[in-house]
Amino acid sequence: SAFKKIANIQDIEDAALKKLDRNVLDYYGPGAQDNITNKDNKLAYDRYQLCPRVLRDVSNVDMSVSIFGHTFKTPVFVAASAMQKMANPIGEAGAARSACKNGAGYSLSTVSTTSLEDISKSVAPLESQGHQSVRWFQLYVYKDRLKSLDLIKRAENAGFTALLVTADTPYLGRRLANIRHGFMLPDHLRLANFDKGEGDSAKKDSNYISKYISDQIDPSLSWKDLKWLKTQTKLPILVKGVLTAEDAKLVVENGLDGIVVSNHGGRQLDGVSATIDALDEVVQAVDNKIPVLIDGGVMRGSDVFKALALGAKAVFVGRPVLWSLALDGEKGVDLMFDILNEELRLTMALSGVSNVSQIDKSYIKPLATR
Ligand code: FNR
Repeated sequence: SAFKKIANIQDIEDAALKKLDRNVLDYYGPGAQDNITNKDNKLAYDRYQLCPRVLRDVSNVDMSVSIFGHTFKTPVFVAASAMQKMANPIGEAGAARSACKNGAGYSLSTVSTTSLEDISKSVAPLESQGHQSVRWFQLYVYKDRLKSLDLIKRAENAGFTALLVTADTPYLGRRLANIRHGFMLPDHLRLANFDKGEGDSAKKDSNYISKYISDQIDPSLSWKDLKWLKTQTKLPILVKGVLTAEDAKLVVENGLDGIVVSNHGGRQLDGVSATIDALDEVVQAVDNKIPVLIDGGVMRGSDVFKALALGAKAVFVGRPVLWSLALDGEKGVDLMFDILNEELRLTMALSGVSNVSQIDKSYIKPLATR
């Protein structure tokens, strides 16, 4: 067949789908239940059109953003997703290193196959070359609170500078492919933030992750627990998984520091709205008091632009990172950043904006229904 150059994130996904086996694809790809929300996360971006301005000198485009006192070179961040060594042996470290080189935000899952400490080690050589690594830790709150407190201490000591507390997973969503075929973490991999054997009792169960979550994660978690968590660390706490104005206000009222508008990539409650459609009400409710970020379905620079136009400070990508790791490890993620950053730069330039602070609602409109 003719030589084909990878040109966009869909090309990366297509290539990755050919490389990964069913056990891994079943876990990485689908949303919960009928995959409606997962699909809509992407489709919803197409329901907004761009409203470019012309003749505005776009010879220099600055994509940098600032959050919690850190300046990032791009608003495209790496989402926390579990068990990345199933995509490529370099796993989470490949994405962390690539984010660091690109001046992008990075987040690590609690249930990663690389430990917090090893992530810090993996970026240390880049930091000594002058690159800045800003890494955040995604926290699941365990029934055993000491376990979560220990993770927070370790995150602080390993140079992580914010916590993302996942609020949408008191139980795992029903992921049908995993129920039908069973899912197993391959034997040579483990949940690296914990002692050997963590999750092993769940390994006997064909629905490994679901069993692990229901054994370990606390479904009684509520706002009072987040208030308590706030007293246990100096790190800013972002609540990940907010979809409504009501909850957005509670995040502010409870003294928490940020929001990620997320539906967990459609993997939890199927049938909720696409995140881009929930963003506006959350941003309005928060009224600039704390930063609002978003994830879900971002595949192109123009998607990032639309999220920024609706008030997101930055955008996380989840599956695109996994597909990029599967394609070519750290180099794959470098390619992902090259593509998304170039697409965003070009969308900004062709829309007539030369820095991120200029991007507002006037640059998009809902697609007209015909
Ligand atoms: C996730 N996500 C996730 N979120 C979280 O808080 N803790 C976790 O361990 C995981 N694990 C995980 C595994 C896999 C395979 C995926 C695809 C996702 C959700 C993730 O942080 C993010 O919300 C979504 O991935 C964003 O949607 P896209 O970019 O994948 O469409």
